[in-house]
Amino acid sequence: MQRFQINSYPEYEKAYKRSIEDPEGFWDEIASSFVWKKKWTKTLEWDFTKPEVKWFQGGQLNITENCLDRHLEKRGNQTALIFEPNSPNEPSQYFTYKALHSKVCEFANVLKANHVKKGDRVCIYMPMVPELAIAVLACARIGAVHSVVFAGFSSTALSARINDASCKLLLTADGGFRGDKITPLKAIADEALKSCPSIEKTIVLKRTDSDITMEANQVWWHDEIKKVDDYCPAEVMDAEDMLFILYTSGSTGKPKGMVHTCGGYMVYTAYTFRNVFQYRSDKNVTLGREATRAGKHDVYWCTADIGWITGHSYIVYGPLANGATTLMFEGVPSYPDYGRFWEICEKHKVNQFYTAPTAIRALAKHPVSLVEKYDLKHLKVLGTVGEPINEEAWNWYNDHIGNGKCPIVDTWWQTETGGIMISSLAGVTSDKATFATLPMPGIQPVLLDENGEEIESNPAEGILAIKYPWPSLARTIYGDHERYRNVYFSAYKGKYFPGDGALRDESGNYRITGRVDDVVIVSGHNLGTAPIENAINEHEAVVESAVVGYPHDIKGNALYAYVILYDGFEASDDLLQSIKQKVADTIGPIAKPDKIQITAGLPKTRSGKIMRRILRKIASKDTSNLGDTSTLLNPEVVNSIIENSL
Ligand code: WT7
Repeated sequence: MQRFQINSYPEYEKAYKRSIEDPEGFWDEIASSFVWKKKWTKTLEWDFTKPEVKWFQGGQLNITENCLDRHLEKRGNQTALIFEPNSPNEPSQYFTYKALHSKVCEFANVLKANHVKKGDRVCIYMPMVPELAIAVLACARIGAVHSVVFAGFSSTALSARINDASCKLLLTADGGFRGDKITPLKAIADEALKSCPSIEKTIVLKRTDSDITMEANQVWWHDEIKKVDDYCPAEVMDAEDMLFILYTSGSTGKPKGMVHTCGGYMVYTAYTFRNVFQYRSDKNVTLGREATRAGKHDVYWCTADIGWITGHSYIVYGPLANGATTLMFEGVPSYPDYGRFWEICEKHKVNQFYTAPTAIRALAKHPVSLVEKYDLKHLKVLGTVGEPINEEAWNWYNDHIGNGKCPIVDTWWQTETGGIMISSLAGVTSDKATFATLPMPGIQPVLLDENGEEIESNPAEGILAIKYPWPSLARTIYGDHERYRNVYFSAYKGKYFPGDGALRDESGNYRITGRVDDVVIVSGHNLGTAPIENAINEHEAVVESAVVGYPHDIKGNALYAYVILYDGFEASDDLLQSIKQKVADTIGPIAKPDKIQITAGLPKTRSGKIMRRILRKIASKDTSNLGDTSTLLNPEVVNSIIENSL
């Protein structure tokens, strides 16, 4: 991948131009730098109306040969994976490429011995331990399709996902450490398994030494690996064979199993990892706003969980395909105190650090002495992902973590896109607070007006869409291609619709403004809830807000705002009036909320997104079927919102 590393702004411009003028030639060259068992015959076939997208057809490969085997000769003894346990008192673990290769092959043999074959679905419900990464790669080694379910999910959420994909095998652990708590994973899994007829066997890793009972068809990980050796040839996979399924929440209750395939996903995640984070594996390279920090090969840390796409693409596959050293952390940022992230950065001399705005905001609330205690001089690149980052959080990150010297990559992408779509390239293209900035080479974003017409001028604001395929786009929703077509390809003909709004500045930098799929039609006016929320949030008393529509006799729909106030502000009539006025001033009187409910919290997903679906139901006085709220970050707020609803 080194050959395709973009080192300067002119090089970015050149690569971008080429990728638009000759997309197939562009990706052909990059794909050729990987190990293929057979070269592809057709680079791209696509039709966004069907929709159908195929990359590198006829090509055959195994992604684990690209992530592991091909590095053995040159960097077999280099650390591939660093594991930092939940407890700072437990020693870190280091896996060289050789060691990781052998562990993956060994566990691949365990899967085979337990009758898992190419194409079978394997559900992985495990804590953030090295065996999770090993399990993912072992599935890929034998062509089994992994479906990782985040280990914070409930038994109901787990069984729904197992059943949707008819998984044959479940991999779990006795428990998982999270701060000072233990998640009883095995007990939760057993509860789920009461309604999962497709599961034939469960393999259990011992992690917390919890007191659990093993049922029939449940075996221990440590017993199984004793029965096999560590030689396992890589299964031959077609480029378009399924690599994994990963569930993401939809605007209806049922989760969508996004399907990613082998070839395109590998090429795109590896390419974007290298370029966005400017990962270096050669000696004496300087980089960053202040080009002083040279190193051997970098240590890269993404704080996401492998249960999310960020972990799949930028803890496991992207870094390993680059022969990088990737760190995984089992615990939480607050344990044993809010300095833990920075302690880990110091301890492992982390060079690239990638986290979420919600984590940054949480950390920024604590005394900066918790940061200053640690030596962060090795950091050269900072990243964020998951939601728009507000200016305050961006500045805190820049000042206190980056010391003003580390470029910040604000990476916009989705479970569906497989890899980063819009972001600066660290130190190569410019960052800009609250802007994701420029598209990756190969990505063709457009802004659309409310009639679906492309807005070509700058600056502009509109609906974000992508008009040309890229290699790591999810190919379908498992078992429901019609839903895939409906959600992503029917709103704007011939374009992929991600569901976000954006604005573009004079220089073509994109700023993601929020979801636009929450559009409410009030008296015939299309109102995006995101801009209304932004207006409310500008009020000095407001911490955060969520706006939804509810049925209204006259207007068709009316607007309901849930608002969190800063300490010290009272919910007086005057205050509510001034919030409405703020919206009227910013957007127009039509966008003024009809009802404002002051609340202590908003229901959020684990990745920090507000669950507007639940708020919509409460606003509509329909609380009969709220769906599974146990997967929320803060399920307890739901009842208090219902009790105080207007
Ligand atoms: C949605 C996708 C991609 C991995 C994590 C989330 C929002 C994501 C950004 C960003 C503004 C962002 C979008 C997107 N989002 N990154 N840098 N700036 N918004 O994956 O759960 O599939 O969510 O997250 O709204 O559509 P996901």
